Amino acid sequence: MRLKLFRGFSLFFTIFIGIGAFVGGICMLIKPDGSILHMEGMLVYFKVLPFSDVLFKDYIFSGISLIIVNGITNLITFIYLLLNKKIGYILTPIFGFTLMLWICIQFYMFPKNILDTLYFIFGILQLLCGYIALVSLNQENFKFNELDYPYINNTSDTLVIYFSRMKYTKKIAYEIANEAKCSIYEITTPERTNGTLGFWWCGRFGMHKWKMDINLDIDINKFSKIIIVTPIWVFRMCSPIRTFIIDNKDILNTKDVSIIFNHFNPWLPKKAISEVKSYININNITSFTTMLSHTFKKKNNCLSKS
Ligand SMILES: Cc1cc2nc3c(=O)[nH]c(=O)nc-3n(C[C@H](O)[C@H](O)[C@H](O)COP(=O)(O)O)c2cc1C
Repeated sequence: MRLKLFRGFSLFFTIFIGIGAFVGGICMLIKPDGSILHMEGMLVYFKVLPFSDVLFKDYIFSGISLIIVNGITNLITFIYLLLNKKIGYILTPIFGFTLMLWICIQFYMFPKNILDTLYFIFGILQLLCGYIALVSLNQENFKFNELDYPYINNTSDTLVIYFSRMKYTKKIAYEIANEAKCSIYEITTPERTNGTLGFWWCGRFGMHKWKMDINLDIDINKFSKIIIVTPIWVFRMCSPIRTFIIDNKDILNTKDVSIIFNHFNPWLPKKAISEVKSYININNITSFTTMLSHTFKKKNNCLSKS
């Protein structure tokens, strides 16, 4: 639904901006004095730009630039979007940003006017809609299959325990359990966590640093080593993992415990580490960044052996 909606918005903005820029540019080339667009009197404002004596004596250079920078680019992006090619989703926010930069030059040159402000807002909207469409496309194409991890061994005395809303953290947990040939367990919650509403609901729990009810049907006493894998919610561990850690802190403090954080931002918030350490002793801390459905382990991880 979200992908369909924001792909629709992206199609609208790219065709609207693309045709507008293309037609505007052609009008400038047909009548370089700007008379078709009633812009004859505006050439004087171009004097603040470098090389204005050469480039802005008339509207030829402006017309060519407009056609290339905002016209052809957006029209090509529109066609890619129409064909449902990923490159169209990548280019939409880029050309939204390009439009914003273009309008910034106009803000600098022209007196305040409503059209510039409107087109700057269109640039912001194109950037946002394109970005949301790109994120939604990546989420839809994200692949995870438990059968790809054949070495998980549920008789091992090492346990990987995790919570995951969108399967990004789940994939990290499975990769670690598969590599370590150990057991794995998914913490679930009866609270709403799916979809856009679930995102905001989880955000509410994250913001208040609340615990969240969990379903836990495993005896962690039988494991000597426990690796906890958690997404970051509002700069801290997610609420279901918070519940797990707080409710089991006495047992966890008798075990060899490591924690792995997964987050969107390129950095791991320090508060996330200090909160976990306020409950339990941690032997090893690792951090992953998941951006646009691609996960990167942080290099030179200075957090290890903290
Ligand atoms: C409610 C909520 C709050 C979030 N807050 C942050 C945050 O403060 N910093 C960050 O880098 N990522 C944040 N994220 C992004 C997640 O940590 C990231 O998308 C992670 O890959 C999600 O893993 P999952 O899909 O397995 O649950 C948040 C996600 C949610 C749902």
